[in-house]
Amino acid sequence: MAKEVWRPGNMLYPAPPVMVSCQRPGEKPNIITVAWAGTICSDPVMLSISVRKERHSHSIIKDTGEFVVNLTSKKLAFAADWCGVRSGREYDKFKEMKLTPLPSQKISAPGIEEAPVNIECKVKQILELGSHDMFIAEVVSVSVDEKLMDDKGRLDLGKAGLVAYSHGEYFMLGEKLGKFGYSVARKPLDKEKSKPAGKKASKDKSWKDNKSKDKSGKKKNRKEK
Ligand SMILES: Cc1cc2nc3c(=O)[nH]c(=O)nc-3n(C[C@H](O)[C@H](O)[C@H](O)COP(=O)(O)O)c2cc1C
Repeated sequence: MAKEVWRPGNMLYPAPPVMVSCQRPGEKPNIITVAWAGTICSDPVMLSISVRKERHSHSIIKDTGEFVVNLTSKKLAFAADWCGVRSGREYDKFKEMKLTPLPSQKISAPGIEEAPVNIECKVKQILELGSHDMFIAEVVSVSVDEKLMDDKGRLDLGKAGLVAYSHGEYFMLGEKLGKFGYSVARKPLDKEKSKPAGKKASKDKSWKDNKSKDKSGKKKNRKEK
């Protein structure tokens, strides 16, 4: 595979374009869209968001030590983009985007009612990295839309219609490819079950062919990397 070599740049994609809500007591709540966000620890449960110092939300989160990460669904994609190009200094983003502040369980900052998942966070550490400060935070409560539960009470996050951000563009998550550990599971992957809930298996097998053949149509050596 021929490669172009580029100077260093942020290319860790897809990223989650989450809507981070925050509020200074007595002021209107705000929303900042953040793609530089990540899971960083399981015990205690922790995540990080990286925010430029000049953002209106930066000082709110720094002063209050709290924020809510709201996952972005297809229905929220327009609002997520808008909240990412307009500042809370000039706009009431909840009002403009017709979003509802959702009282949180463990913190004062509200979440976004319309988001499928709300992750309440308390800031533990701020790392000054350069252009961005990284807020390292502990997750103190998670609220999930009841409609995302299957009949056995398990979360089916595939139903949420989550959005990914990749190199300046938004995408819906696509076809389910397998479950955690499926590569080493004894039973072969059940293709029907690997499709999104409620959909029949597609007859399009091109994904399979692309994996096993090179451009000339010849089968690839499996050990080749
Ligand atoms: C998809 C997307 C991702 C973004 N990711 C970040 C980010 O990770 N960190 C950041 O500081 N700004 C990010 N921004 C920009 C802020 O969301 C934007 O500057 C916003 O207007 C700040 O709002 P505020 O001034 O009300 O805090 C992103 C914008 C978009 C559209």
